[in-house]
Amino acid sequence: MKPFSNEIDYQCWLNYEHIKDQSLLNEYAKYLKNIVINENSYIIDSIKDEIYYSINKILGISPLINNYTNSNKFITISKIGKNNLVDSFLKDEEIIAIDEEGFLIKTVNSHDKKFIIVTSKSDNGLLYGTFYLIRTLQEKKLLDDLYVLENPKTPLRMINHWDNLNGNIERGYAGKSIFYRNYELVDNLDRIRDYARLLSSVGINAISLNNVNVGKEEARLIDDKIYIVETLYEIFKRYGIKVFLSVNFASPIMIGGLKTADPLNKEVNEWWKKRANFIYDHIPEFGGFLVKADSEDQPGPYSYNRNHADGANMLAEALAPHNGLIIWRAFVYNCYQDWRDQNTDRAKAAYETFIPLDGQFLDNVIIQIKNGPMDFQVREPVNPLFGGLKKTNQILELQITQEYTGQQKHLCYLVPQWKEVLDFDTYLFGEGTSVSEIISGVPFNSKKFGIAGVSNVGDDTNWTGHTLAQANLYGYGRLTWNPELKSSQITDEWIKCTFGNNSKLLENLSNMLQNSWTIYEKYTSPLGIGWMVNPGHHYGPNVDGYEYSRWGTYHRANHFGIGVDRTLKSGTGFTRLYQQPNFEMFEHLESCPEELLLFFHHVSYIYKLKNNKTLIQHIYDTHFEGVEDVQELINQWIELEGLIDNKRYQDVLSRLLEQKEHAKEWRDVINTYFYRKTMIYDEKCRKIYP
Ligand code: GCU
Repeated sequence: MKPFSNEIDYQCWLNYEHIKDQSLLNEYAKYLKNIVINENSYIIDSIKDEIYYSINKILGISPLINNYTNSNKFITISKIGKNNLVDSFLKDEEIIAIDEEGFLIKTVNSHDKKFIIVTSKSDNGLLYGTFYLIRTLQEKKLLDDLYVLENPKTPLRMINHWDNLNGNIERGYAGKSIFYRNYELVDNLDRIRDYARLLSSVGINAISLNNVNVGKEEARLIDDKIYIVETLYEIFKRYGIKVFLSVNFASPIMIGGLKTADPLNKEVNEWWKKRANFIYDHIPEFGGFLVKADSEDQPGPYSYNRNHADGANMLAEALAPHNGLIIWRAFVYNCYQDWRDQNTDRAKAAYETFIPLDGQFLDNVIIQIKNGPMDFQVREPVNPLFGGLKKTNQILELQITQEYTGQQKHLCYLVPQWKEVLDFDTYLFGEGTSVSEIISGVPFNSKKFGIAGVSNVGDDTNWTGHTLAQANLYGYGRLTWNPELKSSQITDEWIKCTFGNNSKLLENLSNMLQNSWTIYEKYTSPLGIGWMVNPGHHYGPNVDGYEYSRWGTYHRANHFGIGVDRTLKSGTGFTRLYQQPNFEMFEHLESCPEELLLFFHHVSYIYKLKNNKTLIQHIYDTHFEGVEDVQELINQWIELEGLIDNKRYQDVLSRLLEQKEHAKEWRDVINTYFYRKTMIYDEKCRKIYP
């Protein structure tokens, strides 16, 4: 196995930097010269490839990989029950504690031998254990006393691609699709294998291969273009990743020649069952379908006066005999209604659609819910469907691609944002039912729960456009494995594996990453209001610009104040969708977290915030501060010159400089807008401008 490119930015956190410290090298070499693997499978082949390649690069030696060794120091990678030596050193409680995809790594002392066991109940677990061991080397940790028992905390750990067959990516900011070009598969399959390596190294076990907005050509992926999926499946399965496809609900009409896609129509049912048989004939371990229905021009059951349970269950029945899943998106709202009328509150749409159906979905249906009730804004409260649904399988959907968070031109590290979502207590089953608890499936006693992220990857050499946006992909993966990991730990790991262990580098880069989300928030949309972007592409400041915000419905700014009153008392009543005590917390101006103030309340410009500043002064000041903070990001980066290869140094520097220019534009557009809005009518506000 050779990665497709040797470019350092291409290799991301798997660049396996050579260790220069001779004593550490000697120490590592004692164990890593001999690797015992006495099993065979396609995943085991990937493990052998990775271990051989990584040891070669990190240590500069070629390890011997055999099913036996005479050496008294070695590593052995083997499943439980497959190797007497390994089994004899496992305690019963350890065997019980390891879940299907978990692993155990431990250093064993026995007579004259000292060796490291990597073991699991499954090939996937061995793969994850191997990557963990390699990361231990990258972080330069000692091997003498290793003891790690890890299980993934969420069962489904998924990446969603919004790639179209023509090679374009919806909301892609890093070039073209790495899968498709001109309605066919790309030539470069090695690159796809490298992508699979990156994903499995952080624990991803599922991928959907095409855009949720499924066009005519993409609909053919479950028909005469299935050979494309087959090839991708062959690549991803070697890394323990199941493939899924987005399907168009109207496929029976689009590609089947039927006159209807009515989920209660017999012919339609039969058509989907035949399709399912056809798919599983080609792809025996196919994961299932991802469906966007009745949303933003995608067809769905509403066209036939059916509900979303009717739609999802019909597909679920077709896939059930093959153990396939239907992942049905909760992102359902009527954008035209939003545009026409001032009184609908889009934030309530998903809740109102799905809560009445709770308990009506078949067991192989999972509802995929965006983190917030709107659409991946820089800050939103947690979607109240988490905390509402009690009898339905659920997946959390995050957006790794930075549609509303700077489009990979701006540095915006999203792990701190995701941590807030995951840690949020929904109080679904009383105190302590956080979002991460829900998506673990444990409170529901089900494995059909998990997390999905919209990919930020394209065919740019560095995969993500902005080199530092690689950290979002890494961090996302690590959080899918363990949502309880601290943001600082993930950040440190990523820096060490990607750039090395230099302490100045660790300090500056970790500061930059950890602060970047709130910096971005400062100079863009304040206090949870969101949406102030140009229509269509959603980049750059435009207070009234968002395409469905015709009446300013998304921010309700007038000359007195700004923000959407979503209270029960006087507004849309959205706050009532939360369990107590969250409802009370959001309902009242005084207890509402300030960073979400304008999401929940319409607030006067002269309202005093906790820092004793008026709201308008806060907006004005933070927009200036945000720009100054970007300058500080640049200063910190410049200090790293020479500690980082020139390619990545220059790439990031140029993006930071561009970010600063855009941040100034944001500052000026937003502040001018509110200056104009307030100065005309409000004497008090005018005082803040010199
Ligand atoms: C956003 C995004 C769309 C996307 C949609 C979705 O609205 O702008 O491009 O299709 O989300 O999640 O389906």
